[in-house]
Amino acid sequence: MKVFAHRGYSGRYPENTMLAFRKAAETGCDGIELDVQLTKDGTVVVIHDETIDRTTDGTGFVKDITYEELKKFDADAVWGGIHGFESVPTFEEYCKWAKNQELITNIELKTGVYYYKGLEEKTLELVRKYGLEEKVIFSSFNHSSITRLKGLAPEILCGALLDHQGLGNAGYYCDRYHFECYHPGVKGLTKETVDNCREYGILVNVWTVNDMAALEQVYEWGCDGVISNFPEVCKRWAQSKEL
Ligand code: G3P
Ligand code: MG
Repeated sequence: MKVFAHRGYSGRYPENTMLAFRKAAETGCDGIELDVQLTKDGTVVVIHDETIDRTTDGTGFVKDITYEELKKFDADAVWGGIHGFESVPTFEEYCKWAKNQELITNIELKTGVYYYKGLEEKTLELVRKYGLEEKVIFSSFNHSSITRLKGLAPEILCGALLDHQGLGNAGYYCDRYHFECYHPGVKGLTKETVDNCREYGILVNVWTVNDMAALEQVYEWGCDGVISNFPEVCKRWAQSKEL
């Protein structure tokens, strides 16, 4: 079972920052999950919320701020500055680093609240520029976005992202729309859904697995990956099961 660091090693470091990504890689985890959006000037940036208020010392919508303005805000401010200044990374900055890592990157296209024109194309262009095509999985709560991505790049893996309610007959659905992966919230996931996905050859990567009981459960059900704020704990536990 693969372990993905959710927004990087976000349990211990400021989420979606290069620091959180480097620290995740140090844990020996298999992959990193991150979120992408577009700034006012069309730069693909790595950030979870549509506004910068919660995760930086700035305010406003990502779509209304240029990257030149955005990079001045501190993503470590919410941690009291204990790690030093951390900017919101561009996705290109991430790709430059990731091309030399043995990591799978789960790129979540954040188009569920605001549909950024061209986010799929711009993100894909960077993936191709850095030769990461075989080391990424695109996902989105907005399945129009991954359908669009599939149309542009049928060879790249895509995952249908669902909230904790999940989706009945998820394996059939993913197969029908050529999504190779199903990414459900852990709370409502059932063995039946995992079995249904397996029946259709769909990989199941579950988010956000932050407690041991859930980790054991999804492992027993045969899930393919967990997305966790604590990749170190999950990876050590998964390795112990392989011994
Ligand atoms: O991709 C899994 C997970 O990140 C989805 O939820 O809100 O943390 O982006 P969220
Ligand atoms: Mg996400």
